[in-house]
Amino acid sequence: MHQIVWKEEYLTGVEEIDRQHMDFVKLINRLNIINEYGDNLEYSLRLLAEVAKYADYHFTCEENIMYLTKYPDLEKQEEAHKGMLAEYNNLMQSFQNKEAVIEDVIKYLEAWFAQHSVELDKRIGTFLKSRKK
Ligand SMILES: [Fe+2]
Repeated sequence: MHQIVWKEEYLTGVEEIDRQHMDFVKLINRLNIINEYGDNLEYSLRLLAEVAKYADYHFTCEENIMYLTKYPDLEKQEEAHKGMLAEYNNLMQSFQNKEAVIEDVIKYLEAWFAQHSVELDKRIGTFLKSRKK
């Protein structure tokens, strides 16, 4: 079964962010399980809504960490977060209207995790580490 296996290299070094990223991966993996063991549309929609709320909370949390620590790219991150939520909501809507399949949503979330959470968020950890020196 397709699952994201958590790797050490995904860590940003910021404990709170890492904990939430792990939860995010668990949610994506759960979507994959539901997808493989039958198509429970109602539960899938509930899970997708859970992802939306969790992502929104996580982004706010991350932005507050960046604000507090005077992270220089806060604005860029805020824009990316807003864009991702908007795109995700569109995709959720398309899934609900049967214009998209669950695999499209899962693919989007996995790409988001790989590009944003792992690559961009890692810079927050690097920045915080350099500040401590
Ligand atoms: Fe993140």
